[in-house]
Amino acid sequence: MPAPELRLVLAVSLDGRLAPATGGAAQLGGRGDRRVLEEALAWADGCLIGARTIRLHGSTCLIRDPDLLEQRSTQRRSDQPHALVVSRSGSFDPCLRFFQQPLQRWLLSPSAGSDLPPGFQQRRWLQDWPDLLRGLAEEGMQRLVLLGGAELAGQLLVQNLVDELQLTVVPQLLGGSHSWLPASLAFDPNTWRLEEQRGLGGDELLLRYRRLRA
Ligand SMILES: NC(=O)c1ccc[n+]([C@@H]2O[C@H](COP(=O)([O-])OP(=O)(O)OC[C@H]3O[C@@H](n4cnc5c(N)ncnc54)[C@H](OP(=O)(O)O)[C@@H]3O)[C@@H](O)[C@H]2O)c1
Repeated sequence: MPAPELRLVLAVSLDGRLAPATGGAAQLGGRGDRRVLEEALAWADGCLIGARTIRLHGSTCLIRDPDLLEQRSTQRRSDQPHALVVSRSGSFDPCLRFFQQPLQRWLLSPSAGSDLPPGFQQRRWLQDWPDLLRGLAEEGMQRLVLLGGAELAGQLLVQNLVDELQLTVVPQLLGGSHSWLPASLAFDPNTWRLEEQRGLGGDELLLRYRRLRA
């Protein structure tokens, strides 16, 4: 079974930040960005999300647009893609709104032996990203959206596991240290082919790049 198709979806500032200098829960995109985010969710079987992003935001993005919900229903798919939360600690406040959201929550974690935290339906062992991704594909998750944050995105990008970048560039200069990838990473010189560029209104620009394989 081949690895799933993996698409990184982020809103980034003109200076390449994914959160304000003060950190915290970033809400960078406007209405156009929300639509393309929901379109990506409608395409996906599952969404990879870093634990810090869930803790800071308290919830994850859901598909709300009726035409996208209808499209998934016609395809006999669940309303929402599964939320695949990546965590070493497995430590979450059970009162987070995330645990009330109408979706399947799976924990991807390298820690063995501990109980499944409340609110999660399943756990998958994360020792090695390529193995885990192949396992997810075997379970029917052939299309994955990676919703960040930077720590998680960096790991998958540096291992050449991300096939597509879907970036919404928002008209802000944020400064600070929260680049959309950790500054410590060093990449092989992969190149990316521009597949789409589209104005989203509100001075936002969608850029979709596909990784060119060696
Ligand atoms: N602009 C956007 O589109 C966008 C999108 C998403 C997030 N954000 C922003 O990004 C920031 C959060 O990003 P972040 O980089 O700080 O954190 P993150 O990537 O969301 O989460 C990091 C956490 O993920 C877990 N993790 C990462 N790699 C792991 C691995 N290999 N195995 C097991 N667990 C692993 C760890 O969780 P544990 O601590 O539980 O062990 C780690 O602390 C927030 O400011 C958020 O608002 C922006």
